[in-house]
Amino acid sequence: MAHQAPVFLTRLKLTDYRNYLNMSLEVDQRHVVLTGDNGAGKTNLLEAVSFLTPGRGMRRAAYDAVARNGGNGTWSVFAELNGAMGNVSIGTGLRESALGVENSRKTRINTMAVKSGDELLDHLRLMWLIPAMDGLFTGPASERRRYLDRLVLAIDPAHGRRVSNFEKSMRSRNKILADDAPDAGWLDAVEIQMAEHGVAIASARVEVISLLSVVIVKSGDAKSPFPDALIQLDGTLESMIGEVAASDVETHYIDTLRDTRRLDAAARRTLQGPHRTDMKVTHRPKSMPAALCSTGEQKALLIGLMLAHAQLTGELHGYSPVLLLDEIAAHLDSERRAAMFDMIEQLGCQAWMCGTDRHLFEALGSRANYFHVEDGTLRPLDD
Ligand SMILES: Nc1ncnc2c1ncn2[C@@H]1O[C@H](COP(=O)(O)OP(=O)(O)O)[C@@H](O)[C@H]1O
Ligand SMILES: [Mg+2]
Repeated sequence: MAHQAPVFLTRLKLTDYRNYLNMSLEVDQRHVVLTGDNGAGKTNLLEAVSFLTPGRGMRRAAYDAVARNGGNGTWSVFAELNGAMGNVSIGTGLRESALGVENSRKTRINTMAVKSGDELLDHLRLMWLIPAMDGLFTGPASERRRYLDRLVLAIDPAHGRRVSNFEKSMRSRNKILADDAPDAGWLDAVEIQMAEHGVAIASARVEVISLLSVVIVKSGDAKSPFPDALIQLDGTLESMIGEVAASDVETHYIDTLRDTRRLDAAARRTLQGPHRTDMKVTHRPKSMPAALCSTGEQKALLIGLMLAHAQLTGELHGYSPVLLLDEIAAHLDSERRAAMFDMIEQLGCQAWMCGTDRHLFEALGSRANYFHVEDGTLRPLDD
């Protein structure tokens, strides 16, 4: 396995961030392990790191909910890292302007304000696995779709823009359809936009999933505790990609949208498109749909997917992603824990992990920076 150049955080500072008043942390290239009781602030800290990528972070929190209770409503996350383009500092958060606390998060890279959070992806790619994802395979398709789009975004930074452009056009269409006498010319124009963005979304998903599938098959190891996943995209546009030319998929979707205006107006939403796609995962060795696998098997599948995706990101971007693993060790027996730590090691990722017990991380030995978390304060521990 190719060893990728490392991208790693060296410093993290939180101000008025959830239960952190003011916290500063310095680490080296090794993993970061946070241990402490429930409610200490472990997940909060990982969530803060997740704001170093575009979007609403790993809990998809409203930005104002992140501000510390009792603070003035502003918050910030500041990090220094050895990034894909060298050393860089990133600051992000909600600031105060003359009109009060701003409602959109502003990001600075090397103290310069950036136009789009997408620029963060030039410096690091992040992926996370959190307890809320335990129900990913049994829960609603929307969660799997969001996860799918995150897998794509970490590999293809233009994807976030595609998705938001599509959603914007779709909202316009839904709004026009809600009129008493919808303007057909206007609908035509908006539907052309939707088809353009929609086909771009579907193509990127198909591309990334087929690359990921190659990595899974290539690195497949019958002895691995993390079973191979078979991934299939269940979506009208996705199933056409590769079968017919992209321009034909676009035309087909434009026709579909035109033909379903009445239905969609009645439903008050757009019923067909890439915003309805599902990602079907199968436990390959057992040929068992993931939703029917045991809880432990589902977790193992998710970890396997994450590791394969981290490898693919490393191969394509040239730099391994930083991983945020919330309470991940708790569900694994000691052998699987050790295997996972070794696999992350091989990928050359810096992983930020947390759990209630220090002994869950014993197999990491001196391969991590250890901290004890209590009430939003950190204390370094010996390894
Ligand atoms: N905006 C906020 N301001 C202050 N405290 C908060 C805020 N949001 C969450 N908290 C508190 O942060 C504490 C730690 O949460 P968390 O990081 O999830 O704990 P854990 O260490 O178990 O992962 C919780 O007790 C929660 O009530
Ligand atoms: Mg937690």
